[in-house]
Amino acid sequence: MFKFNYYNPTQIVFGEDRIAELDQHVPKDAKVMIVYGGGSAKKFGTIDKVAQALGNRKTIEFSGVEPNPRFETLLKGVELANEEGIDFLLAVGGGSVMDGTKFIALAMHYDKEPQDILFHGFKGVPATKSTAIGCIVTLPATGSEMNMGAVITYDEQKYVLMSPLVFPKFSFLDPLLTKTLPKEQIANGVADAFVHVVEQYITYPVDARVQDRMSEGILKTLIEVGPVTYNDNQDMSARKNFMWSATNALNGILAPGVPQDWATHMIGHEITSVFGIAHGRTLAIILPYLLRARKDKKREKLLQYAERVWDISSGKDDEKIDQAINKTEEFFNSLGIVTNLSHYGIDDNGIDTVIANMEKMGLTALSETRDLGPEAIREILHAAR
Ligand code: NZQ
Ligand code: ZN
Repeated sequence: MFKFNYYNPTQIVFGEDRIAELDQHVPKDAKVMIVYGGGSAKKFGTIDKVAQALGNRKTIEFSGVEPNPRFETLLKGVELANEEGIDFLLAVGGGSVMDGTKFIALAMHYDKEPQDILFHGFKGVPATKSTAIGCIVTLPATGSEMNMGAVITYDEQKYVLMSPLVFPKFSFLDPLLTKTLPKEQIANGVADAFVHVVEQYITYPVDARVQDRMSEGILKTLIEVGPVTYNDNQDMSARKNFMWSATNALNGILAPGVPQDWATHMIGHEITSVFGIAHGRTLAIILPYLLRARKDKKREKLLQYAERVWDISSGKDDEKIDQAINKTEEFFNSLGIVTNLSHYGIDDNGIDTVIANMEKMGLTALSETRDLGPEAIREILHAAR
């Protein structure tokens, strides 16, 4: 296991019908901007409940944060928040709203051009101040509710920003709020959470037993509860387990001391940027083909994955690995996700555009061993056609 520091200050408020408790978590004298997306949170009554829970505090609303939130949209939020003297931001939505709120929180105080916030990637934004954030999660998927990352679209590219200043102070995880999600968003969320775990787990062994077993526990849970939640809107027990799995998949608890491979995410982000396909879906398309292409590099962990996550105990090692990867793909298919690029109208020209953009973004040495370059990525994408 490698050396690590681990820090996570976000308080989680889990369970049904607890929005009234917001009053205990938002400072009494706060001036609050409630941030939400295209309207689902308003339509289904969550914004009204939030406003009621905030009582006499000054509140304003900022809506219209789109999926894959855009820099230009968020700048309007920054301007409004500064004009109104806002000192607390409450995100009500999925990953896009939470990420957009994180950007607003930093940009409100940033002394350089706001786009500079986006150009520091995993090294972290050199910011010293941020507005406090709280989240009401309506879509379990990204883990943004309990992490310090955000992904913002600027100039038709997705940029990852990281800053410990944007850890939410608290996040409400109410599984009832997810019941209005269309089925395909549940599928996207399950796939996203699954791939978050895989990218921190199927790399190479470093004898990190706690992290491995936590990863295996989350993957097994998602395999159990993902399809149930996708097919049955009434099974609250499955839904709760899905929600908590998604948070734990990317709240930092699996990452300390282990190698990480974010290649599927980086390729997926580019596919979203060029073709607008939802984030989780892009990952489900790429992951099985990436695992096949990287079988030798990931051999030991793939075997462990086959045996411990899919309970495959017979056959030669290669057969076990192949079977596990096939089962992974079938799992995504069982959530209604087609795992071929051609289904989404992406042909060889489209693949060339994706590769060219990744090169432009400097994404040319990916994976846990930094040896996944443009040609290898092209082969993965060709296999996924
Ligand atoms: O905008 P509204 O009307 O709210 O509709 C949203 C949106 O259209 C809808 N929705 C959300 N909750 C709902 C609901 N509809 C009905 N009922 C509800 N309860 O769902 C649609 C998708 O929402 P979005 O927030 O875009 O989805 P998701 O949570 O999957 O977030 C995706 C974004 O997160 C980024 C992605 O790149 C993408 O931009 N990621 C963020 C990460 C992080 N911060 O750590 C890591 C991830 O790997 C990911 O990259
Ligand atoms: Zn993701």
